[in-house]
Amino acid sequence: MPAISSHQAFKVLFITPEVYPLCKTGGLGDVSAALPAALRQLGVDVRLLLPGYPSVMSGIKSKRKVAVFDELSYFPPVTLWSAKLQASNVPLYIIDCPALYQRAGGPYLNPAGKNWPDNALRFGLLSKMGAILASDATSLAWQPDIAHCNDWQSGLVPAYLHFHPGKKAASLISIHNLAFQGCFPAETVTQLGLPAASFAMEGVEYYGNLSFIKAGLYYADHITTVSPTYAREIQQEPLGFGLQGLLATRSQDISGIVNGIDTMAWDPVSDPHLSKNYSDKHLVAKKVNKRVLQQAMGLEVDSDILLFAAISRFSEQKGYDLILQAASQLVQIPAQLVVLGSGDALLEASLAKLAEAYPGKIAVYIGFDEALSHLIEAGADSFLMPSRFEPCGLNQMYSQRYGTPPLVHATGGLIDTVVDCTPATLADGSASGFQFHDMTAEDFLAGIQRVVAAYRNQSIWRRLQRNGMRKNFSWQASATAYREIYQLLLTTSG
Ligand code: ADP
Ligand code: GLC
Repeated sequence: MPAISSHQAFKVLFITPEVYPLCKTGGLGDVSAALPAALRQLGVDVRLLLPGYPSVMSGIKSKRKVAVFDELSYFPPVTLWSAKLQASNVPLYIIDCPALYQRAGGPYLNPAGKNWPDNALRFGLLSKMGAILASDATSLAWQPDIAHCNDWQSGLVPAYLHFHPGKKAASLISIHNLAFQGCFPAETVTQLGLPAASFAMEGVEYYGNLSFIKAGLYYADHITTVSPTYAREIQQEPLGFGLQGLLATRSQDISGIVNGIDTMAWDPVSDPHLSKNYSDKHLVAKKVNKRVLQQAMGLEVDSDILLFAAISRFSEQKGYDLILQAASQLVQIPAQLVVLGSGDALLEASLAKLAEAYPGKIAVYIGFDEALSHLIEAGADSFLMPSRFEPCGLNQMYSQRYGTPPLVHATGGLIDTVVDCTPATLADGSASGFQFHDMTAEDFLAGIQRVVAAYRNQSIWRRLQRNGMRKNFSWQASATAYREIYQLLLTTSG
């Protein structure tokens, strides 16, 4: 039974493997910073729990030791620190466990780009600490009503809570990307201190393995995904990635809430990473950023040529195969392309080769560069997002806000956040980008031709830019929807 606090003053432990700016590999880092900040504005007492990677330990300004757990069965000793996120003052609990987190490399991958071999233990610990702090096993005075988990890395929290005999919080798991599931060999179940009985179809077992995400989806009191369309897509093949059956049986407990963006950090009017700030009323200044971007990336400086951009992790999900196939025709339009990203080694090599083949016309920067990503959003004319699937996606929202209409594959959150340009949507003032439907180079190129035609018509292009820039992508409505789910959980499980 959850320990219910006074009306509306919900206490929520938000358990996440990454948070911007301390550690970010993708959108989950952004969401983990912005959603809790928006919830606090609504009066929710939300606090984050995350692993103490080196960038986290060195990135926090001041910290206070709140507890030591030196006799955790199954896990090395932990010191728990409290600190705050600098930009928003959101409180953090940091799991300092040098044996598992203090090492060079990324949060999930080692320096050679392979999964850390002890990821089950690393994220088993994140989940275990989440369950301790969200139950009467905690030694802290602060006890949450809700454990809000995110993705597979905290998927065991609801399982640990389920098997905890004492008082405990209600649990909610948000799926940001079902393609990542956290599957480990069967023996991991007992190594992480889960009861052997949980290793069943009605439990954490998934095709003979322990699945962290299945544990979360099976035991959590409620499930959210990051857009309404993705909530429907994951209940069927192929985007259920094997879990569509379980998800369909939990259909009543699934809500799709579209992500917002941090409208302070992503504001062309005040963004410190731009060469010149601009607004929907003063769009000519956007061109200055285009010139600076072309110069910085070694592209031919030309204010009229249509400059496309893409920024993301390089993975099969993001559809770079279509960009690679379309590149030669894109250059002939004529148009330019700038790409920023890193990840899959083969894609890195193919994209680097592409840039070599079209000097001055296609530029590729391999790496992670927050400042450059802002300049690209401002300097490009149109943003490409041919994602094979996209639970929500953030860049298509950044680009609309920056007057850079996106061309997106009609999937997941891209459907929910980009209004396709048609005579009807232009007339009603909602058109803000372009969608293409078939995941083929042909359909993608047809989409590109639609962008080109619109770009050549000054008046249509300006309308598209302004419609996008005036849209409200703030977190307020979505944070309110999360608060309603917290309320529902407390009433139904209280
Ligand atoms: P995902 O979480 O699937 O990677 P999202 O669109 O939700 O996709 O979020 C990706 C976030 O990561 C965006 O804020 C994007 O700008 C950022 N990002 C991805 N790759 C890079 C990169 N190489 N440099 C800077 N920012 C990046
Ligand atoms: C994931 C998804 C992305 C989403 C992000 C934040 O990584 O791939 O679509 O925007 O999480 O929710």
